[in-house]
Amino acid sequence: MQQPAVLSVKHLQKVFFPGTANERHVLKNVSLEITPGDFVAVIGNNGAGKSTLLNTIAGTLPVDAGEMTLAGHRVTKKSVAYRAKWLSRVFQDPKMGTAGELSVAQNLTLAQEHTGSMSLRRYRRADQLAAYQELLRPLEMGLEDRLTTQVKYLSGGQRQALSLLMATLSQPELLLLDEHTAALDPQTSQKVMDLTQKIVTSHHLTTMMITHKMSDALTYGNRLVMVQDGQIKLDVRGAQKANLRAEDLMTLFTVTD
Ligand SMILES: Nc1ncnc2c1ncn2[C@@H]1O[C@H](COP(=O)(O)OP(=O)(O)OP(=O)(O)O)[C@@H](O)[C@H]1O
Ligand SMILES: [Mg+2]
Repeated sequence: MQQPAVLSVKHLQKVFFPGTANERHVLKNVSLEITPGDFVAVIGNNGAGKSTLLNTIAGTLPVDAGEMTLAGHRVTKKSVAYRAKWLSRVFQDPKMGTAGELSVAQNLTLAQEHTGSMSLRRYRRADQLAAYQELLRPLEMGLEDRLTTQVKYLSGGQRQALSLLMATLSQPELLLLDEHTAALDPQTSQKVMDLTQKIVTSHHLTTMMITHKMSDALTYGNRLVMVQDGQIKLDVRGAQKANLRAEDLMTLFTVTD
């Protein structure tokens, strides 16, 4: 039996500047079902509509037409706060996911306060700092020794690793990653990608990850979606995805341009 969708998007339309000379149809009748455990790499040219799609899912942008359910709940017209029960996001800018003026420990406290998960209540009772170190050590970013450091003094990679940890503490139904390694140097980017893979697989997180790195899109996840000019041009999973090569994707980019 097919599992119910974590996210169901039906006939989504988004138009910017409607009725003006600048009118732009950015999402054109997009339909998509994300099933539990899917790790979807989302690729597409600049301006294709990838971030707009994620923004409409998160509720930061209202849609003009279409329907959306999240964890079985109709959310099409619901606020960002309402959807936050099921969603977490990590953005391209490492500054977006953490509070720079607060310390690493204070940021983790904030993230914990947003979750009611049993596994985290355990940490509230335990020695807090030791528990935070236990959470941070697997990131292998040296953050376990920087608990009292204000986050603004961390490197981009450390900050992004912390954002990822904070976004996933609550084990969201759906994790949205929008080019979350793009601002990092190649080595750090790889480290954060490895970490992403580790967290996503160990917690079986359903994930949509936008990336411009073809190699990451091919390596990670069980499913690949290509967005082109506001439409889904390719949606492959399993063996079909595993058999894709970078050349195939480049050809598709060219053909659909
Ligand atoms: N809030 C907005 N107001 C007006 N236009 C917008 C807005 N957000 C996005 N757009 C426009 O919608 C189109 C799609 O943008 P979007 O950010 O979704 O692309 P993208 O696929 O994420 O591209 P990139 O790979 O460059 O991040 C672009 O033409 C962009 O200028
Ligand atoms: Mg984008």
